[in-house]
Amino acid sequence: PLGVAGELAVAGAQLGRGYWNRPELTADRFVPDGFSPLPGQRLYRTGDLARWRPNGEIEFLGRLDTQVKVRGFRIELGDVEATLAAHPQVREAVVLAREDHARQDGSADRRLVAYVVAEPDSEPAGAELRSFLQGLLPEYMLPAAFVLLPALPLTANGKVDRKALPAPEAGAGAPGFVAPRTELERHLATLWADSLGLSAEQVGIHDSFFETGGNSILGAILVNRLQQTLGEIVHVVALFDHPTVAAMAAYLARDYPAAVARLWGLTPAEQALASRRVDTTAVELLREIIPPLAPMAAAQEKNPPAVFVLSAPRSGSTLLRVLLAGHSRLFAPPELELLSFNTMAERRAAFSGRNAFWLEGLLRAVMEIHRFDPEQARALVERYEAEDWPTRLVYRRLQEPIGERTLVDKTPSYALSRDALERAESDFDAPRYIHLLRHPNAVIRSFEEAKLDQVFFRHAHPFDRRELAELIWTVSHQNIVRFLANVPSQRQHWLRFEELVRDPQAELQRLCDFLALPFHPGMLQPYQDTHARMADGLHAQSRMLGDVKFLQHRTIDAAVGERWRGAAPATPLGEPTRELACSLGYQLPDHHDSTSRVTRPDSALVPLQAGGKENPLFLVHPIGGSVFWYLNLARELGPEQPVYGLRSRIQAANSPLLDLPSMAARYLSAVREIQEFGPYLLGGWSMGAVVAFEMARQLRAKGAEVARLIMIDPPRPQAVGAREEDEASLLAGLVGDLEGLAGRSLGLVPEDLEGLAFEVQLRKVLAASQQAGALSTELDFAHFREMFTIFQQNRHALSTFAPVPYTGRLTLFRARPAVAATSADVSDPSRGWINLASAGADVRFIDGDHYSILRPPAVARLAAQLAPYLDEVHA
Ligand code: A3P
Repeated sequence: PLGVAGELAVAGAQLGRGYWNRPELTADRFVPDGFSPLPGQRLYRTGDLARWRPNGEIEFLGRLDTQVKVRGFRIELGDVEATLAAHPQVREAVVLAREDHARQDGSADRRLVAYVVAEPDSEPAGAELRSFLQGLLPEYMLPAAFVLLPALPLTANGKVDRKALPAPEAGAGAPGFVAPRTELERHLATLWADSLGLSAEQVGIHDSFFETGGNSILGAILVNRLQQTLGEIVHVVALFDHPTVAAMAAYLARDYPAAVARLWGLTPAEQALASRRVDTTAVELLREIIPPLAPMAAAQEKNPPAVFVLSAPRSGSTLLRVLLAGHSRLFAPPELELLSFNTMAERRAAFSGRNAFWLEGLLRAVMEIHRFDPEQARALVERYEAEDWPTRLVYRRLQEPIGERTLVDKTPSYALSRDALERAESDFDAPRYIHLLRHPNAVIRSFEEAKLDQVFFRHAHPFDRRELAELIWTVSHQNIVRFLANVPSQRQHWLRFEELVRDPQAELQRLCDFLALPFHPGMLQPYQDTHARMADGLHAQSRMLGDVKFLQHRTIDAAVGERWRGAAPATPLGEPTRELACSLGYQLPDHHDSTSRVTRPDSALVPLQAGGKENPLFLVHPIGGSVFWYLNLARELGPEQPVYGLRSRIQAANSPLLDLPSMAARYLSAVREIQEFGPYLLGGWSMGAVVAFEMARQLRAKGAEVARLIMIDPPRPQAVGAREEDEASLLAGLVGDLEGLAGRSLGLVPEDLEGLAFEVQLRKVLAASQQAGALSTELDFAHFREMFTIFQQNRHALSTFAPVPYTGRLTLFRARPAVAATSADVSDPSRGWINLASAGADVRFIDGDHYSILRPPAVARLAAQLAPYLDEVHA
C-alpha cells in the first residue's frame, strides 16, 4: 500500500541470474515472484527499505541490514551510531545486535553492543556513554554493552568488518570483574543473572544492571522479586540509584537492616548504624537544600478559586483526597505537582528519568477531564512542556472545563517550599487551604515503612531515612503554619488525620461547611467509583500515584490513627519537632533540651553542628560561597564540637563588589551573634582560609583573642591583582570547582561551549552538572545564575587581596596529592603563609587532593589531625 515501508524488490527480463558461485545467497535474495502472471519468474530482494509516495516516486528509507529487531522493537542501528558519534569523546561508533549468550530457557539473548573508537587521550566510560544516550534515545535503543577499541577492524575493501568485532567480555575473565563476597551479594548476583538470562558466574558485583542487558521492564520484575524476598517495599528507582550488585547490597544493608540481618546476616560494619537526634542545625540544612522558586511576574488575572490540601507526606492525604473526590462539586485528582514550578519545562526537567512517575497525577487529571486515553493526555501535556507554558496557565486549563466544580490540589511536596505556598495566594483568587495534621511519630513510622526517602525528596542530602522523615514533617508544618498566619481565617481549615479516621462523617461535614457545600453521604465510600475518584492508575495494570497503602484498606480504618503507638520509636524526636508538635496540640512525654542556639534567618551563619558545649568553630565558605561542603568535617568532629559555616549572600545588583577585608568584617559581626567574646576558633578551606586569616587579623588588631586559626589548603597569599576576567574563563573556573567538589567530571570540553551565547553556556553547564550529580536536579536556572554571580564576586575579592601580617600562630593543613609537589612547595610547606604569621605556623599534611580532603575517606584523616588542636583549646 501507498506510504507503507517495505523491502524494495526488482523483477523483469533484465534481472540477473544470481550471485556467482554463491548458491545460498542466491536462494536467499532471488525469490519466486508471486506478483507475476508468468510461472517461474523471480524477484530480486535488494535489502533496501523504501515506500511509494503519492506522486509515484519511490522514497529510499535506509538499508534493511542495519535495521534490527530487539525484544520486539525495530531499531535502525545507524540512528544509534550517529547519536553516539555526537559524544565529544567519541571518534567513531558502530552498533551491532549480537546474540552471544543463550538465555536460561535456551532462547538467544539478543542485545545491542556499541563499539567505540575514542578521541585521542580520552577513554569515555560505558556508564557515561550510556547516560549521554539516555537523554537522546528511547530506552530500547540503548546498547547493553560498550566496547572501546583502538580502531575498527576493516575488510579488504576498507569497509568496517562488522563480523570481526569481538563479543563484549563478561564474566570472570573480564577486566574489573569482582565475584560476590557476601551472602547478600551472592543472592543479588543470582537475582541479576536470572533477570538478565545469564548464569550467576557471569555477574560481577560492579556490573551495572542496565549495561548488561537490563531495561526498565526487567528491572521492575527484579525489584518485585527482591521485594517479595525482603517482605518490605522496594521502589523501582532503587535499581536506578544502585544498579550494581555491590551498590544494591550496601544500600539494602543500610536501609533494610532488619530484613537483611534476618535473611543473610549483617557484617559488623553494617551493624554500626546509630541514629542521631534532629536539631535546629538539621532543620536549617534541609531548608538550605531546598532551592527557592525564582520570582515570576504576577498574574494579570488570577485563576478562579481552588482548594489546596497542605500536609506532610504520609498524613492520610490520599484518603482525604479520595473522600473529597467523591463530592460532585469537587474535582480532586492525584498529586498535580504544579505549584512548585514556574513553567512546564522546569517541571519536566525536575521530573525526568527516575522521577518521571511524578508526572502521572496531571496526566490522570487530563484523562478524566477530556476523557482521553493515556497517550492523548501525554501528548497534550508534552505540548505544554514543549511550549514551556507557565504552570499557572495549566491550572487555568484544568479549571475551565470542570465548570461548576472546584479544583482540589493535594500535593504534599508544596509544603516544603514557602515560595510555592505563596504562589497559591498570588495566582488564585481567594484560594482555600486545608491543613491536614498527623502525629509526627506516626508520620515518621509511615514514611519509614513506605521507604519514602527513595521517591519523595529529590535533592541530594546527608540524612538517613528516619532523620529525613522527621525533618520533612517539621519543615512542612513550620512552613504551613507561618504561611497560614497571613491568610484570613475563613479561608483555612485545620483537620487531624486521627479525627478524620475516627469520625469521618463529622469531619467531612465540617469540611463541607468550610467549603460551603452540601454534605454528600457518598463521600464516605472511598472504595466505590474508584475510577471516577481517580483512585486508579493511568493504565489498567498500573497503580495510582500517592499512598501505596490506600488500596490495602477496604474501608476508612480508624485503627490506623493510633497504630504507631504500638512500637516505641528508637530515636526520640528532636527539639524543633517536639516544640512544633506541642504547639499543634499533640501530646508528648516531657523532655528538655537546651543546647541548640538560634541564628537569624537572614544571617550569613549556617549551623552545621549546633549541639555541644565547647566553643564553636567558625568555617568560612570557599569561592563558590556555599558551606555545604563542610558538613562531613562537622560530622567527623563529633557532637560536642559546635561548627558554624559562614556563607556568601548575594550582593544587591547595584552595590559595589566587596573587598575581602570588608567581607571579613561583615562575617565577624555574624560570628558575634553566636559568640560575643573570644577566644575564637576560626578556619576555612581554600579561599575560606584566606578570609579566616583576615578575620583573625582584624580580631587581634582590636585586642580580641583568637584561640586557633585553621587554614585548610589555602592558595598562595599574593594578590594577583584585579583581573578583567571574561565570563568564559570565570565559567571554566566554576566548572573546575564543581568537578573538584563533587569528585567527578562534568563531561564538558571547551568545544561544547565555544561560540555559544553566555546564557546558553551557563544553561549547558547547569545541565551537565545536574547530569553528573554535581548539582541537584531541582536547582533552577535563576539560582544557578546567582551561584555564578557569587563565584564572580568572591573571585574578585580574592584576587585583589594583599594580606597584612597576623600577630598570632597558624595551624595549616595541606593536601598531599599522589603526584609530586613543585619544588617551591617542598622548600616552604606553608606556601608562603609562615612569613605572614609572626608567631609561626604548624603545618600538617593530609593525603588527598585539594578537593578530596573534604570528602570521605580523607576528611576523617583531616578531622583526626585537627581534633587535638581543638582539644588543646578546650582543655
Ligand atoms: P500508615 O502508613 O500509618 O498506615 P498519605 O496518603 O498522605 O501518604 O498517607 C498515608 C497513610 O494513610 C498511611 O498510613 C495509610 O495507611 C493511611 N490510609 C490510607 N488509606 C486509609 C484508609 N482507608 N483508612 C485509614 N488509613 C488510611
